[in-house]
Amino acid sequence: MSQTENSAPKTESHDPKVPAAWAEFMRQGWGDRELDLPRHPVADHAARRRTALAEAFPGDRLVLPAGTFKVRSNDTDYRFRPDTAHTYFTGNQTSDAVLVIDGDEHVLYARPRSDRDSDEFFRDRQYGELWAGRRPSAKEIGDSLGIEVRHVKDLPSFDDERKTRDVFTDDDLGRVASEMRLVKDEWEVGELQEACDITALGFTDSVQEWDRVLEFGERWIEGTFFRRARAMGNDIGYDSIVGGGSHATTLHWIDNTGPIEPGSLVLLDMGVENRNLYTADVTRTLPVDGTFTPLQRDLYDLVYAAQEAGIQAVRPGAAFLAAHDAAMSVLAHGLADMGLLPVSAEEALDPDSKVYARWTLHGTSHMLGMDVHDCGKAADSAYRDADLAEGMVLTVEPGLYFQEDDLLVPEELRGIGIRIEDDILVTADGFRNLSDSLPRTSGDVEAWMAAQRR
Ligand code: GLY
Ligand code: MN
Ligand code: MN
Repeated sequence: MSQTENSAPKTESHDPKVPAAWAEFMRQGWGDRELDLPRHPVADHAARRRTALAEAFPGDRLVLPAGTFKVRSNDTDYRFRPDTAHTYFTGNQTSDAVLVIDGDEHVLYARPRSDRDSDEFFRDRQYGELWAGRRPSAKEIGDSLGIEVRHVKDLPSFDDERKTRDVFTDDDLGRVASEMRLVKDEWEVGELQEACDITALGFTDSVQEWDRVLEFGERWIEGTFFRRARAMGNDIGYDSIVGGGSHATTLHWIDNTGPIEPGSLVLLDMGVENRNLYTADVTRTLPVDGTFTPLQRDLYDLVYAAQEAGIQAVRPGAAFLAAHDAAMSVLAHGLADMGLLPVSAEEALDPDSKVYARWTLHGTSHMLGMDVHDCGKAADSAYRDADLAEGMVLTVEPGLYFQEDDLLVPEELRGIGIRIEDDILVTADGFRNLSDSLPRTSGDVEAWMAAQRR
């Protein structure tokens, strides 16, 4: 159908009219080019994953959509980021695609670039090449991802008697798709290592710009880290947490609007999502002056000891919660030694008590992968209550948080928050710290800051 003034694509309130003569002229005289895309390294992994998923649901049709744009306001959208399950099973990152797995038949229904005989290419601000950039053609998607591609307009309605499961609504499919991601293959471990390495550069950038940090506060660190994430990765994997002073005691402080003040600590919880959508999740707590005060150092060293105990508890066959239990035992004893607990450390550690957690607040670990809190739909029996296995990647991130208005701690502790977080791969005989290029001990943190600030 010819699209002129009164037909789709939708016209926004501020759009100039599109007279037929202009539209007609726009449809003519364009060259065309098909790119020769190499096969993406994820293609073989994704094919194997699809086969395994199909085997978990024999006879059923499985539907995994990429999702579409999310409106920010009116005709302005957020940048698109595909659904994790969709990309895990396809490698595809284009919007509006739908993977359909039907036994041995795997088809990606995609929305490829528009041709030049509709007006979409110059009028549609979401899909139009002249507005949003060139989308790949169906052939390009198929070549790079090694999967049959059909146009999404040909997506069947699936209203027959066969069981069709959509990963967005079917709990069982969502759960299995999540559980399949618990163990990372070698390629994924490489992706996570890259995400950690770029993340380390982003932390280093921030420290190298410490004069600007002191001038502009938390915002400068957020912006500096984001610049590195965009330059070398896809994005940040979650909103950066930059907690100067007492903001460090707010677990998800993402306003990042505060100052960075001499004598205080700043907690940085930041992770780069790489271009294949694997994210790091790293926290360091830094002394703004470059050296810890004696009190800050004692507290930091306690959190470090807890984290170290947690990391050392990671090995195949250990319980997922072993790292948490080990870290919390160290912190509870430390809090008892400081005279803060109303009961003994052992009594506080009783699962029916947990009073120490007034100052530790959160769990120590979560799985990490394409989502920062990865595998979120896995059953407890496969995740929280299960044992670790080679190839899993989890964070170990204990913290101590003394709120500003906590009357149960001495005044000098109030407003101090400390967390140390690393990304730990379970290996055949133990663990590997993927984020260990950033310093962790108090001494190493100080030496690193001194070296970077020059
Ligand atoms: N950045 C969120 C977390 O550490 O879990
Ligand atoms: Mn984190
Ligand atoms: Mn985390």
